[in-house]
Amino acid sequence: MMRETISLQSARLPALVFGPGVVQQVGEKAAQWGQRVLLISASASFDRLEQRFGLLEILTQGDRVLVGHRRISVEPSPQQVDEIVTEFYSQQVEVVVAIGGGSVLDAAKCIAGLLPSGDSVMEYLEGVGRGGQYQGPSIPLIAVPTTAGTGSEASMNGVLSDRQQGFKKSFRHPALIPQLALIDPDLLVTSPPALIAANGCDALSQLLESYLSTQATPFTDSLALEAIARIGGGLIPLWESAGEDAAARSAVAYGAMISGITLANAGLGVVHGLAGPIGGLFPVPHGVVCGTLLGVANRTNIEALRERDPDSVALQKYCMIGKKMALCEPSKGRSRRLDQLSSGLMSLVEKLQIPRLREYGITESDIPRILQHSDQKANPVVLTEREFGGIVQARI
Ligand SMILES: [Fe+2]
Repeated sequence: MMRETISLQSARLPALVFGPGVVQQVGEKAAQWGQRVLLISASASFDRLEQRFGLLEILTQGDRVLVGHRRISVEPSPQQVDEIVTEFYSQQVEVVVAIGGGSVLDAAKCIAGLLPSGDSVMEYLEGVGRGGQYQGPSIPLIAVPTTAGTGSEASMNGVLSDRQQGFKKSFRHPALIPQLALIDPDLLVTSPPALIAANGCDALSQLLESYLSTQATPFTDSLALEAIARIGGGLIPLWESAGEDAAARSAVAYGAMISGITLANAGLGVVHGLAGPIGGLFPVPHGVVCGTLLGVANRTNIEALRERDPDSVALQKYCMIGKKMALCEPSKGRSRRLDQLSSGLMSLVEKLQIPRLREYGITESDIPRILQHSDQKANPVVLTEREFGGIVQARI
């Protein structure tokens, strides 16, 4: 028996329906809440899915009415959310269905949360809003993720961006957690390989960060570790097969779903502490930022822990990650295994051809501004300014 006391609390989860083909159930599931459906989707990627899966037909079978279908841009803005809320406020929407990546799901959470009142999201956006206290309720939301990345389907926040004012901020409330998440790994077949790579790295990083978090619990650890093993085994085959490998699709989609649950319950670390501001200040997709920082951020953590906290639980956890991802030789000593994990994660980022930050116009002179807006969240070791900035520098 492990001699420790356990305390934890869990965020509410959506009902989860996971498996190949479950997208076919979206219409009948929506009918639990009503017949008047508002569909929120992406643009081009939705058309590829529509062609392959006939989503509009599934949604409108029986007595169901599509009150509207609105498409969300890559980085949704508060203005876009407000326009859709104003348009549909008086149209008796009974259920919102969101089909898309993290941006679409985030925007849909905001829209579903504001439709009952017609309020502007600027009333509630943290840090930059007017500081209103959101009370809910939200219109029931069904989240259908089409990328395996953010895990947004399981969380309570909708991230919105205003590029002109340079912010990326959340509208956050437990009432925004979707009622139901339908996660169909088959939807990944239309994802381009570069998107599979970036989003998969985002999910993997979310798992590693929440597993290593100072707020991790046995509950989140057991979920995260198993998912790390699956995504660790599935990501390269999924990318190499351009989404065609069915077992890899399942493994990566499962890992992404679990990453949403573990991040909501254990928090994140330095990769996401940097990804927020970098994504707010520069036009870099979230998955690319997380992917590009993944290797070097963990190498920096491992080195800092070896130097300042060599007996830490976090280093034991790093060894476990190396084992689960099959990046270390189990017969080697701990120091060698940690080296193998560091270089294994760096090689993964190289192999997946994750772009460097300079490709998005970021230069060394931007580092102070990035650090000013960054925090280390629940990272297992407090990095010095030099170490923290060094992570960004190494990927420019
Ligand atoms: Fe993320």
